[in-house]
Amino acid sequence: MSTSSVITQPRTRAVKETWGTRIGVIMAVTGSAVGLGNFLRFPGLAAKYDGGAFMVPYLIALVLLGLPIAWVEWSMGRYGGSRGFNSAAGIYRAIWPSPVSTAAGVLAMLVPVVIYMYYVYVESWCLAYAIRYLLGGMNFGLDPSRYEAFFAEFVGLTENGLAFRAVDGWWIGSAAFFLLLCFLLNFYLIYRGLQKGIEWFCTWAMPTLVICALIILVRVLTLGTPDPSKPEQNILNGLGFMWNPATKSKSFWEALANPQMWLEAAGQIFFSLSVGFGIIVTYASYLKRDDDIALSSVTSAAGNEFCEVALGGLITIPAAFVFLGPQVIENPKGTFELGFVTLPNVFNHMVFGWLFGFLFFFLLFLAAVTSSLSMLQPAIALLEEGLGLGRRASVAILSFVTAVGSLFVVYFSQGLVVMDTFDFWVGNVGLYILATFQVILFAWVLGVDRGFEELQRGAEIKIPNFFKFVIKYISPLYLLAVFGAWCYQEFWANPQTLTKIIREPAAQAAVLFLLLVAAFFTLIVNQSVRRWERMKKLQQEVAP
Ligand code: ALA
Repeated sequence: MSTSSVITQPRTRAVKETWGTRIGVIMAVTGSAVGLGNFLRFPGLAAKYDGGAFMVPYLIALVLLGLPIAWVEWSMGRYGGSRGFNSAAGIYRAIWPSPVSTAAGVLAMLVPVVIYMYYVYVESWCLAYAIRYLLGGMNFGLDPSRYEAFFAEFVGLTENGLAFRAVDGWWIGSAAFFLLLCFLLNFYLIYRGLQKGIEWFCTWAMPTLVICALIILVRVLTLGTPDPSKPEQNILNGLGFMWNPATKSKSFWEALANPQMWLEAAGQIFFSLSVGFGIIVTYASYLKRDDDIALSSVTSAAGNEFCEVALGGLITIPAAFVFLGPQVIENPKGTFELGFVTLPNVFNHMVFGWLFGFLFFFLLFLAAVTSSLSMLQPAIALLEEGLGLGRRASVAILSFVTAVGSLFVVYFSQGLVVMDTFDFWVGNVGLYILATFQVILFAWVLGVDRGFEELQRGAEIKIPNFFKFVIKYISPLYLLAVFGAWCYQEFWANPQTLTKIIREPAAQAAVLFLLLVAAFFTLIVNQSVRRWERMKKLQQEVAP
């Protein structure tokens, strides 16, 4: 691509927003990464695939996909930012002014905004559980079925519309009410802006959540053998259950040969690092031209891995093992079983269980807010710079769109079909496509040498040149292989998933809704592109 085709965004706002401090941006990116995925999704997956074996594809995906794509996003984001763009559409078009970049810009809005619509619902469960622990509303005794019944009723698993009704007959206790609280908090922080909202919140929430996690971790690691009549249910066996590569019926090599594990490990890396979401490009665009990105990106990824492996990986499963035994963990009934059914039961077995329960769900809530905030900023950036709207108008539009989507998820809660449909099409298909586009844009359009120059400008560490090869060849091929295998499995080998995601009426309505949101963002991105081109022409006329 010739550099002469690079376009620059004419200034539409008097002052371009920037991050306040270096630690602030690291906290914000780490906050985006550390979320429900670290404390709920990762432990569940690691336990399912014999932790030690799972770590092999996990670490390979981290090195060949996670880190390289994070560098791609950081570099392209700062590159676009120094040309005046903060939205993904603007950034992609600054590198490659083409209809493909415009379409990818639409996808980069759809992915974070739609993920926000269901992610914030799970965030609201965390808030509800934390508050209920403080008020004594989570003590259902030692009977596991009561936790299951509470969760099903609270989130409306068994009947559409149930989440609008309070479990205890008090409307303020409904899931929908907690969702409203989360919405207000997220949009309040977004309204306050980059420094006073996102950066400020992440700078205190991240250390707070790590402290909460460390307190729980110390408690879990000192549990010993809580029930002397079951000596095998001790903490060492709990850790072994989670991390030994071959605790169950297969050897390490047999475990490694499972293609499903490789797929899920790659998916976890994406979800956990928030790469392929179009978030990091936007966050990095608020950096200054010579700010370090190499060390900051590695620091954020390291922070995420610490929270995921050292905190998330050592708390939930070992605690559940010592109190409830392996059978409860081995066959979870759904994605949320471990977090919202098993763990509350575990906390009730502990002395001061209400306190540990509160700390756990409060830290989950903080982790979720720092992630959900980051899912809103890309669309805010587009509305502001693409349509020239002020913060108030952008927040109003985005809150309306996301509220409609979230209400849809909350109302059609039966079997969580709508949530799963959104996650399937956007949280998986959309994510893979966007990540692939970004890697190709960086490596093949911007050019891997130029991209690396951008990555190394102002850098405080040197990223080995070997990664040029990885980004150019290995990451795109790895991504295509994973996506291909995922499609084979979902569309061909696993007809039940397909039935749930495509054939149920609620799923069809969800797909229709997704198409509407996509049309909405297509309109906005097209309008923005027209505006940028108009302004560029004007600028050329004034200063030829
Ligand atoms: N990265 C965020 C998480 O792990 C989305 O939850």
